[in-house]
Amino acid sequence: MTHDQHFRVWRGDEEKGELVDYPVEVNEGEVVLDIIHRLQATQAQDMAVRWNCKAGKCGSCSVEINGRPRLACMTRMSTFAEDEVITVTPLRTFPVIRDLVTDVSFNYTKAREIPSFAPPEGVEPGDYRMAQVDVERSQEFRKCIECYLCQNTCHVVRDHEENKENFAGPRYLMRIAELDMHPLDSADRQKAAQEEHGLGYCNITKCCTEVCPEHIKITDNALIPLKERVVDRKYDPLVWLGSKIFKR
Ligand code: SF4
Ligand code: F3S
Ligand code: FES
Repeated sequence: MTHDQHFRVWRGDEEKGELVDYPVEVNEGEVVLDIIHRLQATQAQDMAVRWNCKAGKCGSCSVEINGRPRLACMTRMSTFAEDEVITVTPLRTFPVIRDLVTDVSFNYTKAREIPSFAPPEGVEPGDYRMAQVDVERSQEFRKCIECYLCQNTCHVVRDHEENKENFAGPRYLMRIAELDMHPLDSADRQKAAQEEHGLGYCNITKCCTEVCPEHIKITDNALIPLKERVVDRKYDPLVWLGSKIFKR
């Protein structure tokens, strides 16, 4: 079945822009990205949108749909009433390049600031057998597709540009938590999380978790445990040292 829908898409660049109205055909089974592609094919050839897989796996098509951060390729048109106006805007936290495409390099910068996995010297592949529970814990975090919807949503940076320098955001605090929970990692992640990556800015509002398309429990399984580890450590540094020694 086919019907016409009222789309409203933000068009512009880093200097200025506006919402532009488009009446557009919608067919059964389509997603928002299909409609954007139809607009490109029929009435707005120069409309910029970033996408790649159309399967919810590359994390490229992040936009805001009726104000909610979502993947355009995973948002079914059947989510909306046929007479609803669908407003599509670029991610608000990052600078606009053009139309629906934003510059997400903030996230690459934050990723580079986290030192990589640091096993103790002399451990050869095969020397250490990880417990299944440790494998499973990090596997959840590894589902991340780097769509940056959580980074875009967290109010610490969404409403406060000035916090960007000192806050890694939920995705990268989760990376630090993953490394800190790894029984072989020997770097002092807890001190860095607090002093360099802004863990203290997170007041566990859980908005990041709500928008994660991979349903990773970012707050409950990564951020809160990391905060607890930092608190334990603050009262007793031997707790941190002990946890590393006894796991080996
Ligand atoms: Fe996207 Fe979830 Fe990864 Fe955040 S944690 S970047 S919301 S997949
Ligand atoms: Fe932000 Fe998520 Fe913490 S939304 S405040 S990082 S729980
Ligand atoms: Fe790859 Fe949407 S196009 S996640």
